[in-house]
Amino acid sequence: MPANYITSILKENRIFYPPKKFSENAHIKNMQQYGELYKKSVENPEAFWAEMALQLEWYKKWDTVLRNDMGFFKWFEGGYLNVCYNCLDRIVKSGKKNKTAFIWEPESGKCKTYTYGQLLKEVCKFANALKKLGVKKGHVVEIYLPMIPELPIAMLACARIGAIHSVVFGGFSSGALRDRIQDSKAELLVTSDGSFRNGKIYPLKENADNAIKECPSIKNVVVVKRTGKKVDIRKNRDYWWHELIKEENESCEPESMHSEESLFILYTSGTTGKPKGILHTQAGYLLFNYLTFKWIFDIKDNDIYFCTADIGWITGHSYIVYGPLANGATVVMYEGSPTFPKADRFWRIIDKHNVNIFYTAPTAIRALAKEGDKWPNKCSLSSLRLLGTVGEPINPEAWLWYHKVIGKEKCPIVDTWWQTETGGILISPLPGATPLKPGSTTKPFFGIEAEILREDGSKAAVNEGGYLVIKKPWPGMLRTVWMNPDVYKEKYFEKFGVYLTGDSAKIDDDGYFWVMGRTDDVIKVAGHRIGSAEVESALVSHKAVAEAAVVPFPHEIKGSAIYAFVVLKKGNKKSWKLKEELIAHVAEHVGPIARPDKVQFAEDLPKTRSGKIMRRILKAIAEGNKDYGNTATLSNPGIVETLLKEKIE
Ligand code: WT7
Repeated sequence: MPANYITSILKENRIFYPPKKFSENAHIKNMQQYGELYKKSVENPEAFWAEMALQLEWYKKWDTVLRNDMGFFKWFEGGYLNVCYNCLDRIVKSGKKNKTAFIWEPESGKCKTYTYGQLLKEVCKFANALKKLGVKKGHVVEIYLPMIPELPIAMLACARIGAIHSVVFGGFSSGALRDRIQDSKAELLVTSDGSFRNGKIYPLKENADNAIKECPSIKNVVVVKRTGKKVDIRKNRDYWWHELIKEENESCEPESMHSEESLFILYTSGTTGKPKGILHTQAGYLLFNYLTFKWIFDIKDNDIYFCTADIGWITGHSYIVYGPLANGATVVMYEGSPTFPKADRFWRIIDKHNVNIFYTAPTAIRALAKEGDKWPNKCSLSSLRLLGTVGEPINPEAWLWYHKVIGKEKCPIVDTWWQTETGGILISPLPGATPLKPGSTTKPFFGIEAEILREDGSKAAVNEGGYLVIKKPWPGMLRTVWMNPDVYKEKYFEKFGVYLTGDSAKIDDDGYFWVMGRTDDVIKVAGHRIGSAEVESALVSHKAVAEAAVVPFPHEIKGSAIYAFVVLKKGNKKSWKLKEELIAHVAEHVGPIARPDKVQFAEDLPKTRSGKIMRRILKAIAEGNKDYGNTATLSNPGIVETLLKEKIE
């Protein structure tokens, strides 16, 4: 996050206390209770987590709570359970067979609900269908679906039979899907005949067909009928979901899974050109999300919870599927765009389903705030009791709007900090206990020891910015990078010997954490992680481009957006048309969310004498920051002035 954007966060210094009634009924009721339990949890994390793990149902209890296997952490070794069983059968057995698990709101508004009992049957049917198609324990199933019930059903079916799911966000392009399948070596792909977004159809099956031309590992494709659009169905390879499950049995024995067997892979952007497959395993991941969801969202039996994330991201995995279901919660999942057909869609969904807990991203809050108060003001929103945000730092203007206009000043806001790699929330308020400071993610969750380090590894002083690290392992952490253990060690542990988050942050006088942004070449665009290297390699794959560098710049709604500097190959003319073409090229190769907002053609890029591009200088130019440091070491110092003159406003 650009520095000048953060300063605006720091101007708000009011403190917001939890409403008395909220605290009285909360799982964690005050800071004293938090403090005592926190102390206990970090003094002996293994005892803490072992005690909590008894709340899950095990086929066999573990032998060892935690083991460090040469830098690879193992939780609950010797223990066996099934994640799907814990999310469905266990809840049904507790008497909640007829409780609603999912309320699915499609763009059309014609809702469909699934009770825990119904969901279990659907999951079993699909699990049996997968088995018939030859999917076995340890196989990888790629899932490329829109926000429809078949998405969580497919994930849970995999978990039930011990297959590893790898969900690819339905907004990604065929190229991004292809790269992920090639890396995961999936045998089966689940997709649909399209998805609805803003009333329009996005051609998922067509993208999938293009992708798997270059994916020999895929043997079968299951296609969900969602839009009715005509698609190619290739004989002996492609099967309709509804035809497959028609004859299937409604029960399917869950596989007994060792705690450390793989549950899923989820790809995320890092500093290299290729996305990394983050691997999560069974028991630790489930336990961590069970508990963080219960206490951070303060879930009660009659709550209706709505998370606006897409299940294609970690937020959806952990806090639409596994965390909520393990708690027997009722979850609203919405198919489409926040502004379809109008800018009040979220607010209307809240009223329609009497949502009590609402979890979204700062970028959505800013975009909807910009549409004006008249949209939420037309709705009651009186069912709400708790709000949450995730994905990027929230600026106080947006926080205060959320608090006032949506929460009517009565709902605590949990600003939850975490990552794909952390599996679940690590730093966040507990809504009945923690006094809130807008823009701060407040304090670490139980068992989490977070710290800020300087470049030399020493501890930063109070209010001094530095590298955010997590000092001890926690059950929800990534176990490795798929097929790439060296990258796991190097990216996350080499620098300081403890888990490196890639974020910069500071801790204030009250021990509150303020996350400032990334320290690496990851750009957070509307809360999504985009690797600058991925966008750059997409740009240089265009025939007219010789060289490219992309950096973030502050954006009113997206938080950060992408600014691309592009050097053309000789003989190519700068033109509007070419700019548009390059933007479309990135959308096609990486995905529409990675589209640069600004493209500046340049004669050259600022480089060191050894030829390294000085992104720091480009970032300062893009941000409009005059302080771009020393330019004397550049091999071409004159270029800075030229770039400044031609800057895109
Ligand atoms: C990165 C992780 C975690 C689910 C969604 C994103 C940024 C996340 C916050 C927050 C400030 C935040 C960090 C982090 N981030 N939550 N509450 N305040 N920054 O998952 O795509 O893996 O991105 O998102 O930069 O490293 P992700």
